[in-house]
Amino acid sequence: MQNEKRVILDCDPGHDDAISIILAASKVSLLKIEAITTVAGNAEVEKNTLNALRVCDIAGLTDVPVAQGSPKPLFKKREIAEEIHGETGLDGPVLPSEPVNKPAQQHAVDLIINKVMESDGDLTLVPTGPLTNIALAMIMEPNIIPKINEIVLMGGGTFGNWTPAAEFNIYVDAEAAKIVFESGVPITMFGLDVTHQALATQETVNELSKIDNPVSHFVVDLLKFFIKTNHDVFGMDGGPIHDACTVAYLIDTAIFDVKHVRVDIETTGELTYGMTCVDTLGVTKRTPNVNFAYQLNYDRFWNLFKKALKSYTN
Ligand code: RIB
Ligand code: CA
Repeated sequence: MQNEKRVILDCDPGHDDAISIILAASKVSLLKIEAITTVAGNAEVEKNTLNALRVCDIAGLTDVPVAQGSPKPLFKKREIAEEIHGETGLDGPVLPSEPVNKPAQQHAVDLIINKVMESDGDLTLVPTGPLTNIALAMIMEPNIIPKINEIVLMGGGTFGNWTPAAEFNIYVDAEAAKIVFESGVPITMFGLDVTHQALATQETVNELSKIDNPVSHFVVDLLKFFIKTNHDVFGMDGGPIHDACTVAYLIDTAIFDVKHVRVDIETTGELTYGMTCVDTLGVTKRTPNVNFAYQLNYDRFWNLFKKALKSYTN
């Protein structure tokens, strides 16, 4: 199909990961989802895998392999975000108890390596959780590095949400992030600076509640829970749909303004471990390595979002 973009979604569903998958699978998306891989992050990797399979059922993605990945970061102990995503990792909606499919037999890292090596360089990796699987794939098979078309990731920012300096996805495995950011693969980064602009509010929920299909109802129930926990934990006036920014960008790059900057990952700081050091002004004179998204066209983003959810109405 013309302009079809082949992607692998590496995720830790998680409310916003789930919404990102649903956006990618919608009829307004020209993305060809080659696989979904899971990593420890929002919840334990087993829960994230079960949730990915559940979301595939709901979105009608039953022909996409879901492969389970790393249960922990490269070196650190695992950290999860239960206070944001709840005990199941997808608290809020009623969840399918037994998904149609089982996880793929293959480990996520092996699947990523095989898919990239079999490709002709047209595969984009879309990590929306900690970067452990991506780093492991690069370590195990360095020949994938020149063959990855682009990495479009959610993570980092010029401020943090897990520490004052570090965003959760990067903080959980900063060593993995360092490997990925220094790999030389083209990276487009959606950090908190822009994902906090993708804020779902009660008004958003009221709007989306007018769309009458099971997928939209599922998303509304996810958003109601996610808006509450982001308010309770961070005092925010809504739930930032962090991960959906990656897929929205791949569908319509014009939603975002990006700039090519240098980003380095802090892995030793006592107070700054996991910080993405975004060299906005170029003061390091180091070679830029990231397309840093800094501005979102709010109406264009939510119009796409609404069209995507409406596309699930038969
Ligand atoms: O900091 C936000 C990120 O951490 C999102 O990807 C969310 O799903 C969690 O993984
Ligand atoms: Ca995530």
